[in-house]
Amino acid sequence: MDLDYFTLARVIHVVAVVLWIGGVSMVTTILIPGVKKLKSKEEQIATFEMIEGKFSNQAKITTLLTGLTGFYMLYDLDAWDRYLDYRFWWIHAMTFVWVIFTIVIYVLEPFILHRLFKKYATENPEKTFRIMQRMHWILLLLSLITIAGAVAGSHGWLLIG
Ligand code: HEM
Repeated sequence: MDLDYFTLARVIHVVAVVLWIGGVSMVTTILIPGVKKLKSKEEQIATFEMIEGKFSNQAKITTLLTGLTGFYMLYDLDAWDRYLDYRFWWIHAMTFVWVIFTIVIYVLEPFILHRLFKKYATENPEKTFRIMQRMHWILLLLSLITIAGAVAGSHGWLLIG
């Protein structure tokens, strides 16, 4: 049996997406609501940082794998012109979601957001966790729409056009 690198890339792509977006769903729907119920703000901040920190390390690897395999598939299909066709909106969506998360995980979180979170969570934990949950919901919904569009689109159901 020949080793089919395209299929291998697709398998790694999907497994990485499952681990990554599954983790975003866990943080959004379980971790943040759970942390909000803890009694003291010290406990809230420490618990959130401990669990989110572990997820963030994993997400650095899974976003990298998603990007590498995604661009490899575009290269292998020689499908760069899909960026010029609105029917492939799900390719734009995948790239957009990936760029946003990559900037957040590799640049904003370590250099800016981590410091801001500590400052605002100490001053006003309720408001800070509310804003964070809202941001996570937006990213999660965007990711789920992207996944639905990508599965439909890559199996020939373009939805538009
Ligand atoms: C740099 C970013 C990305 C690129 C270049 C990329 C590229 C691709 C390509 C070329 C395919 C195969 C399309 C086809 O078979 O016609 C694909 C499939 C897919 N991608 Fe991405 N992708 C990226 C990021 C993402 C992200 C962030 C997600 C999830 C939020 C995602 C989810 C998926 C899914 C679910 C499939 C469908 C797999 C299947 O049903 O076989 N991708 N991607």
